[in-house]
Amino acid sequence: MENATIFCAVLFISLSIAVAELRGNYATFVNSTWVDTSNPSGPGDVVLMGPSTVVVGKNYNFTCHVVCNPLCNFTWLFNGLNVTSGFSEIFMHPANFSDNGVLTCQATNVVTLTTKAVSKVIRVTDPKNNISVEPTVQYPPTAGRPYGLRCLTTGNATAALWVKNNLVLETSTKRVQLLHKNTVLFFDPLTIFDNAIFQCLAFVGPWPLTSESFILRVNYGPQTPIIQAQNLLGPAVRQSFQCYVDCHPLCNYTWYLGERMFWHGSHVSIQLANFTISNNLTCKAVNPVTGFTGAASIIPKIPFGPRNAIISGPSELILGHSYTFRCSTPSYPPSNHTWYLDNKAVAQGDVYQVASATLADNGTLQCTAHNDVTGLSVTNSTELKLINGTTSFKFSSASLVAALTLLLLQLLP
Ligand SMILES: *[C@@H]1O[C@H](CO)[C@@H](O)[C@H](O)[C@H]1NC(C)=O
Ligand SMILES: *[C@@H]1O[C@H](CO)[C@@H](O)[C@H](O)[C@H]1NC(C)=O
Ligand SMILES: *[C@@H]1O[C@H](CO)[C@@H](O)[C@H](O)[C@H]1NC(C)=O
Ligand SMILES: *[C@@H]1O[C@H](CO)[C@@H](O)[C@H](O)[C@H]1NC(C)=O
Ligand SMILES: *[C@@H]1O[C@H](CO)[C@@H](O)[C@H](O)[C@H]1NC(C)=O
Ligand SMILES: *[C@@H]1O[C@H](CO)[C@@H](O)[C@H](O)[C@H]1NC(C)=O
Ligand SMILES: *[C@@H]1O[C@H](CO)[C@@H](O)[C@H](O)[C@H]1NC(C)=O
Ligand SMILES: *[C@@H]1O[C@H](CO)[C@@H](O)[C@H](O)[C@H]1NC(C)=O
Ligand SMILES: *[C@@H]1O[C@H](CO)[C@@H](O)[C@H](O)[C@H]1NC(C)=O
Ligand SMILES: *[C@@H]1O[C@H](CO)[C@@H](O)[C@H](O)[C@H]1NC(C)=O
Ligand SMILES: *[C@@H]1O[C@H](CO)[C@@H](O)[C@H](O)[C@H]1NC(C)=O
Ligand SMILES: *[C@@H]1O[C@H](CO)[C@@H](O)[C@H](O)[C@H]1NC(C)=O
Repeated sequence: MENATIFCAVLFISLSIAVAELRGNYATFVNSTWVDTSNPSGPGDVVLMGPSTVVVGKNYNFTCHVVCNPLCNFTWLFNGLNVTSGFSEIFMHPANFSDNGVLTCQATNVVTLTTKAVSKVIRVTDPKNNISVEPTVQYPPTAGRPYGLRCLTTGNATAALWVKNNLVLETSTKRVQLLHKNTVLFFDPLTIFDNAIFQCLAFVGPWPLTSESFILRVNYGPQTPIIQAQNLLGPAVRQSFQCYVDCHPLCNYTWYLGERMFWHGSHVSIQLANFTISNNLTCKAVNPVTGFTGAASIIPKIPFGPRNAIISGPSELILGHSYTFRCSTPSYPPSNHTWYLDNKAVAQGDVYQVASATLADNGTLQCTAHNDVTGLSVTNSTELKLINGTTSFKFSSASLVAALTLLLLQLLP
């Protein structure tokens, strides 16, 4: 273990000396050999310093910065091809049109051999032969309206091609046309599918000259606004609403209760006590750039009730028969129901079932409805009377005797 560390350190010292000699700066590199190589780290994030636009004929330096222990080794690539290795700095001397492309710096930790890279697009310009892109209209790019880009050139440069997202634009379509000898790219109408990075390209002699990127971001909407009601928020009786709309840039929202404006923002929380049933809640969205508007409305469900409880079912029960009782209460959200027979809770839910009537069912049946959200309750009751049944139904004498026997047995103390 210790031997390996010493071996690595020695190897690193020889490598460093080799690099130092290559660079002709022995002293600084010798010092760096004392860096602790037994604990290598990095490379951290690589930062490539230098201009992204260069002017033909001038000199430029590019420097790679990275945190690395021991010092990283660097490899420079241009348009994917190896340029040089060893140092953190390279020179462009002087810049010419063939320097258009992607410069990459790769930093490698010489102990762990971990590599990280960073790239930069270099654009060569010529003040005498310039190229640029500008809109042909005064208003912002808006979906549904015409829009155009013009390629402006100076000197000997002549506009030749349009490039969309790094791909040469195909020939004209009915909606997207190349006009005036390719100098104008015209959209009629503009759509969100035209969102892209546009460049125009010219030639000065054999050298291509590219314009700076024109980022076209189409303003559109508000489209398909909708209001979504969030869950009821318990006994506080507030409800929240969210307005959704497709819009670029972000739309501005205004809320109306009936005709009355009362809130700005995409989200609103309302005290439902302020509502009357007929109030119509509207969210209006405005695109701050185009001024276009859209709106969505809903009639919110106001929690109410329970107003009254209606118990349905017979009032006379025949011994041994089955019955169903229902408790209905106008309420939003639906109320919970509890059934009581002679003040004893016997069931939950809006239905009460008697599988086989017994003497115990002769009594007061009560239904209590409770709305968790409004916090209100209502109770109603009905008297149940157990009867012989001979008046309503024909029984075989056997079953009648059985029923009466049961009745008598139950009456015995
Ligand atoms: C070498 O490093 C030491 C400390 O790490 C420092 O004091 C000294 O100045 C350095 N020498 C050179 C030539 O950079
Ligand atoms: C580029 O680096 C060289 C040597 O390090 C320096 O002399 C020159 O001033 C630098 N040029 C620029 C433009 O920074
Ligand atoms: C660049 O060249 C060096 C040797 O000159 C080689 O070791 C390295 O792998 C090359 N890198 C790439 C990305 O081609
Ligand atoms: C840096 O990398 C190059 C190419 O891979 C290599 O020739 C050189 O020896 C390396 N230098 C160090 C100090 O590792
Ligand atoms: C344009 O081309 C002509 C002929 O090749 C040349 O004399 C002139 O200097 C060029 N102008 C610019 C601005 O490059
Ligand atoms: C929304 O409208 C208000 C008032 O007109 C304004 O102050 C605010 O900046 C707007 N917000 C956006 C995102 O446009
Ligand atoms: C609802 O009523 C309360 C108190 O009356 C009031 O403070 C609040 O602003 C009202 N909210 C709305 C949305 O009208
Ligand atoms: C709400 O009111 C607006 C006009 O005040 C109306 O156009 C819209 O249809 C109403 N929405 C509902 C859901 O009733
Ligand atoms: C009780 O029920 C009766 C008859 O079904 C109904 O008329 C009355 O309104 C109810 N009372 C309450 C408080 O629900
Ligand atoms: C009412 O019913 C709801 C849903 O079934 C339940 O979450 C709630 O706890 C019930 N409330 C009472 C008071 O029983
Ligand atoms: C049923 O209850 C009523 C009133 O509470 C009572 O008058 C009647 O005698 C009872 N009938 C039976 C069979 O217990
Ligand atoms: C039950 O039926 C028997 C025999 O039919 C009759 O004598 C009795 O009076 C009836 N009782 C009631 C409460 O209807």
